[in-house]
Amino acid sequence: MNVTTSPGPASGVWGKLQTQAARLAALPVRELFERDPRRFARLSRTAEGLLMDFSRQRLDASALAELLQLAEAVGLRERIDAMWRGEHINPTEDRAVLHIALRQPPGAALGGAAVEKLVMDERAHMLDFAAGVRGGTIRGSAGAPFTLVVNIGIGGSDLGPAMGVQALRAYTAGAPRCEFVSNIDGVHLAEVLEAADPRTTLFIVCSKTFTTLETQTNARSARAWLSARLGAAAVPAHFAAVSVNTRAMDEFGVHPQYRFQMWDWVGGRYSVWSSIGVTLAIAVGRDNFLEFLAGGHAIDAHFRSAPWQQNLPVLMGLTAVWNNNFLNLPTLAVLPYDDSLRRFPAYLQQLTMESNGKSVLLDGRPAECQTATVVWGEPANNAQHSFFQLLHQGTPRAALDFLLPARSSCGNQPQQNLAIASCLAQAEALMAGQSAGTVRAELERQQLPPARVAALVPHKVDPGSRPSTIVLFRQLDPATLGKLVALYEHSVFTQSVVWGIDAFDQWGVELGKKLTEQLAPAVEDPAAGHAAPAAVLELLATVAQWRG
Ligand code: F6P
Repeated sequence: MNVTTSPGPASGVWGKLQTQAARLAALPVRELFERDPRRFARLSRTAEGLLMDFSRQRLDASALAELLQLAEAVGLRERIDAMWRGEHINPTEDRAVLHIALRQPPGAALGGAAVEKLVMDERAHMLDFAAGVRGGTIRGSAGAPFTLVVNIGIGGSDLGPAMGVQALRAYTAGAPRCEFVSNIDGVHLAEVLEAADPRTTLFIVCSKTFTTLETQTNARSARAWLSARLGAAAVPAHFAAVSVNTRAMDEFGVHPQYRFQMWDWVGGRYSVWSSIGVTLAIAVGRDNFLEFLAGGHAIDAHFRSAPWQQNLPVLMGLTAVWNNNFLNLPTLAVLPYDDSLRRFPAYLQQLTMESNGKSVLLDGRPAECQTATVVWGEPANNAQHSFFQLLHQGTPRAALDFLLPARSSCGNQPQQNLAIASCLAQAEALMAGQSAGTVRAELERQQLPPARVAALVPHKVDPGSRPSTIVLFRQLDPATLGKLVALYEHSVFTQSVVWGIDAFDQWGVELGKKLTEQLAPAVEDPAAGHAAPAAVLELLATVAQWRG
């Protein structure tokens, strides 16, 4: 792939941004508010039903203008166009990157007419199946409708649909219960199967490659469980699958009508929009799944056409670069103020860190700056009572994204109002902080002895200037969820373009996979003298002793 622009520190504006950062690092953010009463208006943007408030970032108009110059300098427009043209912008796997084609409406011809036809045919097949399972017309081998759907997959074949079903729980009335099993240790599968009725249980094996150890292991265990109870002949009626690997799905015993296709131009962590989202479609129904796709498509159109100044994913991506590379804040805490989004931080971890956790440029040279933001997070009122202490006063510092719905997703607006108050209070406190003078005055008002006041002041000072973005939306509905996911996807892509890395491969996870396969026989039988490293064998000796 021919990338002619200079990424990262080699781009002309990098030095200017460092100067801007040095200037702003010396200014408390509250002072930026005092200097500019129109700061909120200047640094917030609304598009596609999302309001993004960047005013608590350590930014001003001049630094933002330079960041937009950075987008120009690295050729972001051309890279976006290349994605849309279906060019192989994932050069190490020699693949196009067309998850944007999965959420297109009919007639958009995104990815070309052939891709559009594949997507539309597959979408119709998957949605018909989902409607059949949801409506009870597709049934198990004994003729009973399914009451439990177990999605077996891991990484992108788990996190997207699992996060989506949790986020859109309010839309799942009338659907079978949906569970997601991913880990290899068998604990979760056992838990799910404990109370399951095999006659009414459908397994959906989601695996792009259909070779992933965790998924294959869980799928085989599930098949054995079902066969033991209903007989091997019942398997096809109880197993659906999604993969690029049709033959492997056949060999596993999946019903031919229940096999769904994906393509190598869809990365695992970008695949919830494909048939990998089948469990989500079963849970929320056809129309809501289409709304989810439409939300993603709305952000695609916005990303493609909005000027940088107004472009939400671009502004979000550039802000992440600013915090990471210029303000030395390499971690991002994602804090949803709607408990339904409790799996969203985990979803973003794969999206962000598997995409941008790279240290070489597209041309193979070492990256010249820090890449990939470390993402973490938790529904925020819980987080306020666990790790917010560190955010306020700890020495490690983080950037923050607050995700804030105006309306309750469960019909309890009075409690949602308290969540909103919590969010705004925290954003304000983390921005403005509390000076020694304010703390001292308050303690003196309490008439504490002077020595006690002096001792307490340093402990109660809150330095503030912790940069945050508030993403405000009306309500967590299917379209909004689609918008939020696409927003972060394109932000991650924007960051990768600035850094000059391939956001769509994941070679780093391969080594661990290979070693697991090599070590598995030695773990099974350490005494057999397998050619494992000595330190591993020594540890295994104790494992063997302790497991009995
Ligand atoms: O973790 C590596 C990875 O390849 C992810 O990119 C992917 O989402 C996951 O494994 C699962 O892969 P598959 O869908 O092929 O089972």
